[in-house]
Amino acid sequence: MNDQKISVEQRVGEAGEGAKVTGVELNVYSYFKARPAHLRRSFDALMRDKLRGFVGRQFVFDAVNGFLDTHDSGYFVIRGVPGIGKSALMAKLINDRGFVHHFNIASQNIRSTRTFLENACAQLIERYGLEIDEIPHRAFDDGGFLVQCLSEAAADPENHPVVLAVDALDEADRLGMAAAVNTLYLPFSLPEGAYIVATTRPLDDPRLSVAEMRVLDLEADSEGNLQDITTYIEAYVEREGMQARLSAWGVSAEQFVAALRAKSQGNFMYLYYVLPAIEEGRFVEGTLDELPEGLMAYYRRHWRQMREGNESAFDKVYEPIVCILGVAQEPVTAQQIANWTKLQQGQVKESIRLWREFLEEERVDGEGRFRIYHASFQDFLKEQVDLVRYDDMIADYYLALARLGEE
Ligand SMILES: Nc1ncnc2c1ncn2[C@@H]1O[C@H](COP(=O)(O)OP(=O)(O)O)[C@@H](O)[C@H]1O
Ligand SMILES: [Mg+2]
Repeated sequence: MNDQKISVEQRVGEAGEGAKVTGVELNVYSYFKARPAHLRRSFDALMRDKLRGFVGRQFVFDAVNGFLDTHDSGYFVIRGVPGIGKSALMAKLINDRGFVHHFNIASQNIRSTRTFLENACAQLIERYGLEIDEIPHRAFDDGGFLVQCLSEAAADPENHPVVLAVDALDEADRLGMAAAVNTLYLPFSLPEGAYIVATTRPLDDPRLSVAEMRVLDLEADSEGNLQDITTYIEAYVEREGMQARLSAWGVSAEQFVAALRAKSQGNFMYLYYVLPAIEEGRFVEGTLDELPEGLMAYYRRHWRQMREGNESAFDKVYEPIVCILGVAQEPVTAQQIANWTKLQQGQVKESIRLWREFLEEERVDGEGRFRIYHASFQDFLKEQVDLVRYDDMIADYYLALARLGEE
């Protein structure tokens, strides 16, 4: 039953020309809207980004389908390290199947339980035409209203399976929540016909206690993952710019694919950075063997290269600026960074240019706002630098402002 695609309204009207912004065409489901509309979060930009060049993952989708087919309800949790491709496969699943969905994105400050509940409930109401005329008072103070929406949606067997997809439980905020409470107030048990498909990085304590759960470990060195990694590299090697690199190194496509598969350690984020860097000729000096071993080594290499011969500028300018971005709770402007670090705007802009590869820019009212592109780079920064100093730097700035206000 689940192999069938739910009928899709192809994107034509609504988004008009914007549909093919980056070459990735998203399916448009009328129920990706929400009621009330203002509670809806759109993840179109994220999904487009993650779907670019997407390959494989059939073994994961088969496992999800198998679970939906054989269980009356329950949680299917996909667990894997940062960069292995959890968010990307969620984007694919959601775009193919039209699941009601939510992505937690800490660096965009989309991580609160309330935001999740509002978005999930509003999508369920619209998607299943629930007869809820008015959202109850305090509906998002606990998990009760979400269960009500799921129950009403699943009350009609025609709607089964009712699936809610939730990405990155580990990026959700647990501030002020008792230890026994589930992350995002996710319910202990789900009504018949209702399922939650979620992803998380491996955590010592996942803070999720539920009646029915199956965990799929997306292992970096598993056959399925390595097969997808291989497919991705093989496709990339076909690109025109790559042939010259391979002949400069004197390696065959097969040797290259095998080497990159090993170097990537099964991590897609590594390929996302390293393949374009090779194509641009940033590794022309040195041999294939000298490519960094794994994602963290790639980050370390960039760090070392930026510092070499620039120690003073690096310590006083480049490092503080990237570290401030590492602790910022949401996308920030160059001006904000300048205020917090007490550096010049010009220095901030120069640093942003040097770290650009690891940053994402969004434009709000014509102004650029920056954030770290991927959580794995934040992990790297934490390993490299004591970030507490930078938290303090931001706090001190606002304390000083408050004091000024009092004077
Ligand atoms: N199956 C895939 N096919 C192609 N690219 C992928 C795939 N999975 C991940 N990627 C790329 O690797 C990057 C990291 O993946 P992501 O889904 O963000 O990892 P995670 O959520 O596990 O930390 C993404 O930005 C995406 O571009
Ligand atoms: Mg992710």
